[in-house]
Amino acid sequence: MSRRIARILVERLKAVAGIRVDPQNEQFLTFRLNRRLDALGLASYEDYLSILEGPKGEAETARLVEMLVTHTTSFFREPAHFDWLAKTGLPSLCDKGAGRLHPLTIWSAACSTGPELWSAGIVVDQFAQAIPGGLRWGMIGTDISANVLRRAAGAVFSATEMAGIREEDKRQYFLRSRPGVATENGMPIFRVAPELRSRASFLQANLLQPLPDFPLADLVFLRNVLIYFALEDRQTCLGHVCARIRSGGYLLLGHSDSHHGLPPGLTQCGPSIFRKV
Ligand SMILES: C[S@@+](CC[C@H](N)C(=O)[O-])C[C@H]1O[C@@H](n2cnc3c(N)ncnc32)[C@H](O)[C@@H]1O
Repeated sequence: MSRRIARILVERLKAVAGIRVDPQNEQFLTFRLNRRLDALGLASYEDYLSILEGPKGEAETARLVEMLVTHTTSFFREPAHFDWLAKTGLPSLCDKGAGRLHPLTIWSAACSTGPELWSAGIVVDQFAQAIPGGLRWGMIGTDISANVLRRAAGAVFSATEMAGIREEDKRQYFLRSRPGVATENGMPIFRVAPELRSRASFLQANLLQPLPDFPLADLVFLRNVLIYFALEDRQTCLGHVCARIRSGGYLLLGHSDSHHGLPPGLTQCGPSIFRKV
């Protein structure tokens, strides 16, 4: 891949999704793109550029984003956030009426295949069970990628992906494939139980664009996506996300995400945890 083509592809990715990839990382780019060229029966990257610039350019650009964006995630990733949620975040939100005066809403803003959202769901459900009369609550998962959203909503996970979930939570919150049911590698597969699935809805949303309509959130997970953005895109993204947090609600960033670009009106109250005043 020539430097010129690498640069054009990387610039397009940044313009659409905010994601920065080093154009000199040709190995990464060719590895991710070669399969697409084969699938389209194209002989060269120049031919691929013609598609990106032609009438099917918008759809192909969405595919390009799917190919180049990183979706790494796992259940109970950065576990201190989930301990904080159970011990501090949820009690404080409920003290202010969330779950009673309005449904408590958790938003996983770059949810990838869903483990972050489902982990939060397990914590909220356990908290809600201990509250006399229970809580009204729900979850929203958004991502730029339609592919990962399909997986998040399907809520099916391999035994390997389930690492990090306690056995008792596996039993309570997941259906397990029956012994003898054929799976890819002979290992069981798991699906989030219907009661938890019924709490969640999923929407495609680019955090750099005006967001679709959905309820204001009491708590937002915006973790491990800002790390890929330049400062101006971080600011845009944070502006969009923070506008959708209720006052008194929380924003959780990833531990590696930069705190630069946070809008005014947020106070830090824990490691990568911010409260909207
Ligand atoms: C590394 S994953 C993080 C998943 C999860 N938040 C976590 O911490 O485990 C980053 C996710 O951000 C999504 N993403 C990247 N750019 C985005 C954008 N501009 N708008 C919305 N989602 C985006 C990707 O599709 C990917 O699923």
